[in-house]
Amino acid sequence: MFDSHYLPLINGEFTAFTEETFPATDATTGERLAVITRSGAAEVDAAVAAAKAAFPAWSATPAAERAKLLLKVADWLEENTERLVRIDAHDIGRTVFELPQDYRQAIGQYRFFASAISTHDGWNNVTPGGWAIAKREPLGVVGAIIPWNVPAIMVSFKLAPALAAGNTVVLKPDENASLSTLELAKYLAEIFPAGVVNVVPGFGEEAGAALTGNPDVAKLAFTGSTEVGRIIAHAGASRLVPVTLELGGKSPNIVFPDIDDIDAVVDNVTFAATFCNGQSCLAGTRLFLHDDIYDTFMEKLVTAFRSIRVGSPLDPETRLGSVVSPKQGERVLKYIETGKAEAKLITGGERVEVPGHEAGWFIAPTIFETTNDSTIAQEEIFGPVLSVIRWNDFDTMIEQANDIRYGLASGVYTSNLRNAMRTADRLQAGQVWVNQYVNLVDGSPFGGYKESGLGREVAKETLDAYTQLKSVMLAEQVPPPFYV
Ligand code: NAI
Ligand code: MG
Repeated sequence: MFDSHYLPLINGEFTAFTEETFPATDATTGERLAVITRSGAAEVDAAVAAAKAAFPAWSATPAAERAKLLLKVADWLEENTERLVRIDAHDIGRTVFELPQDYRQAIGQYRFFASAISTHDGWNNVTPGGWAIAKREPLGVVGAIIPWNVPAIMVSFKLAPALAAGNTVVLKPDENASLSTLELAKYLAEIFPAGVVNVVPGFGEEAGAALTGNPDVAKLAFTGSTEVGRIIAHAGASRLVPVTLELGGKSPNIVFPDIDDIDAVVDNVTFAATFCNGQSCLAGTRLFLHDDIYDTFMEKLVTAFRSIRVGSPLDPETRLGSVVSPKQGERVLKYIETGKAEAKLITGGERVEVPGHEAGWFIAPTIFETTNDSTIAQEEIFGPVLSVIRWNDFDTMIEQANDIRYGLASGVYTSNLRNAMRTADRLQAGQVWVNQYVNLVDGSPFGGYKESGLGREVAKETLDAYTQLKSVMLAEQVPPPFYV
């Protein structure tokens, strides 16, 4: 299933200057799956130079031709989904039950941007005696850095809009989740002209820093922690290149007492907090539960959390696998210890052993009863840990829901239209889901308020961030000076 050694993709070739490697390990068995070249500044600089050289021809390629290749990527991903899902399941511990949805989402992005670009090519209008044309031009080399939680989706969020718009790309996958991206790279190398897409696996402080610091990178696109997002934003600021950031979240999920199907809402809220093994920036991790239904709802919620099947990510019946690495597992457990000291543990709160997968960090689905000002309610944990907060006064609840440094997503459950509308209106979040969660539709903008980021992905507006406007004025003949 795996090659023994994966190399960076630079200028259409799998090649490196260094012999240094790092291992890709199975998240639940600890087994070495492959080794990956540890890209440094030499690989990154060569990749950026290749992307720079490929840019003039690629940006001059008709959008329809570029779109054709993106549609091929989508088809290839569709044909290879099953294989790539198994690769991710081994590499990052996510379940084979859930991962196919990542691929559907990613496939949708390639197809969406292949179409959207055809409607985005500037506009023109007639001025007296001439034309004013606002022409959209690609920026150049895009440096993209992505995290480990949803690799297929992250690659698509960066590659699809950047390439559709005519940019060339140097992509750095995360050191914990490079394998499915490097498998995809083999196909990208087959179909794209050399240098258009380059992939440089490696570590943040090495390959990542070399990419953000390279003077030939014309735009930075990042998804990951707010802390590293700030470093990327500084790098962009110092060279005056645009930056888009999709960062952390601690999203409120708000339940009104007027819901008419309590079991459906319990299922939805459970999923919102535990999908992706809790490692999602848009997870609904702060549950605002109304006083009037608190006890009934909580009882059902605890039952739902306890019935989540934890196990091998490769077992189709498993609903919760392991978090990505020992480092992430320890981080989650540390938050759980903080929670035990400052809040009331309702269920979970421990590492679970799965026979045959002793190296995995499986965390029991965990519920705390707490207040919005506690550490576990304020900080992004990135594990299956839910903070439940009781509410009864609407204004106070909204104030608390917004009392957080993040603003990525949110959920509202109600059968009352007025409650839905006034809540959606007042939440400081880039995404509000009403009576649903985690539904990212191709074309609907996704991105954060406040410290959750800058810019929007998934939508037509995303193409604005991968292009710049040039104003071209044409006159039929040279007019006298200062004419209006
Ligand atoms: P991270 O932000 O350190 O890693 C994300 C990417 O940034 C990786 O590709 C990494 O190699 C790169 N990177 C790290 N330092 C860099 C630097 N100095 N220059 C350039 N690139 C750099 O996130 P990490 O440490 O994996 O996770 C820590 C926490 O971040 C998680 O517990 C979670 O709270 C949050 N996170 C949020 C994500 C999101 O989707 N918004 C995704 C991953 C993590
Ligand atoms: Mg791994």
